[in-house]
Amino acid sequence: MPLPKAELHLHIEGTLEPELAFALAERNGVELPYADEDALREVYSFSDLQSFLDLYYELMAVLRTEQDFADLADAYLARAAAQGVRHAEIFFDPQAHTSRGVGIGTVVEGLARALDRSEERHGVSTGLILCFLRDEPAESALETLEAARPYLHRIVGVGLDSAEVGNPPAKFRAVYEAAAALGLRRVAHAGEEGPPEYIAEALDVLGVERVDHGLRCMEDPALVERLVRERVPLTLCPLSNVRLRAVEDLAHHPLPAMLDAGLLCTVNSDDPAYFGGYAEDNLRAVRDTLGLSRERLRELARNSFLAAFLDHDEERRAR
Ligand code: HPA
Ligand code: ZN
Repeated sequence: MPLPKAELHLHIEGTLEPELAFALAERNGVELPYADEDALREVYSFSDLQSFLDLYYELMAVLRTEQDFADLADAYLARAAAQGVRHAEIFFDPQAHTSRGVGIGTVVEGLARALDRSEERHGVSTGLILCFLRDEPAESALETLEAARPYLHRIVGVGLDSAEVGNPPAKFRAVYEAAAALGLRRVAHAGEEGPPEYIAEALDVLGVERVDHGLRCMEDPALVERLVRERVPLTLCPLSNVRLRAVEDLAHHPLPAMLDAGLLCTVNSDDPAYFGGYAEDNLRAVRDTLGLSRERLRELARNSFLAAFLDHDEERRAR
C-alpha cells in the first residue's frame, strides 16, 4: 500500500498521456504530427528543460473544450489516488491556452468540473495554482491575473514556470504583489536549471512560501542554512530531474544529502506523462536507487502535508 501523501508539484498539462492526446486530437479534429502513440513516445527523450517544453506546448493543441480539461484532470486524479495521493495542488498554465484562443474560463471551469467531484470520486482533495510563463513578458502575467479575476474563488495561489534561465523571479515582482493583495498563496519554480540566486530572489522579491525544485540550493551552503532555518518547503521531482538532465542520474540525486541537511523536502511528479512516473513511482525510484529508509519515506510523506496549503480558507478569512 502506498503511503498517503500530498502532491504539490504537478502540471496538469504534463499529465496528458499519449492515449488521451490521440483521443482528444480525434475528438477535436486536430492533426498531430505523429503516426501513433508509439511514435509519440519515441520523442520523449529530452536533453534539457527547453527540449521538453517544446513538446509539452505542442501537444496542448489537443486541449480545446471544458470537457477536454475535465477529462484530463479526472484521469490524473484517478491515477494519483491509486498512488496514495490524498491531496493535490495542481498547476495550470493559462497563457499556453489563451495564446491559442482558448479562454481562461474554459480552462478553469473545465478543470473545476473534475476537481469538484474529486473527493467523492477519488478521495483526493484539491487546489488549483495558476502559473505564469516566465519566458513571456511581465505585462502578460499581469493581464493573465486580471483575466483570472472572475475565477479567483477557484484558485489557491500563483506559481511561475517554463524556461527559467534568463527569466529571474524579480521580473514578476509586480504580479506577485498583486496576487498577494488578492489573498493568493505564492510559489515559484527556482533552482531547477537556474542558479541558487534565483531561489533567494523568489523568497525575497516574490515572497514565495514554497520553492518548486530548489535543487541547486545545494551549491550555496548559506542558502541551505537559510532554507532550513526558515523551514521553506522544496517540491522536488526526482524523475523529472533525471529526464531533463538536471542531475546525471538518479543515483546522483542530492535528495539524501538535502534530507541530511535538514531541508523540508517533498517528492512529486512534475509532468508524469512525460517523465516516467506518478507520485508513488517517484518515491519508489528514490527508495530503490538511493536506499532511503522507511523513516525517511515517512518523513517525505509527512512533509507533503506540512507544506500543503490545507489551511488556505482559514488563512484567507484571517486576513
Ligand atoms: N519546469 C519549468 N516549467 C515547467 C515544467 C518544469 O519542470 N513543467 C512544466 N512547465
Ligand atoms: Zn514543474
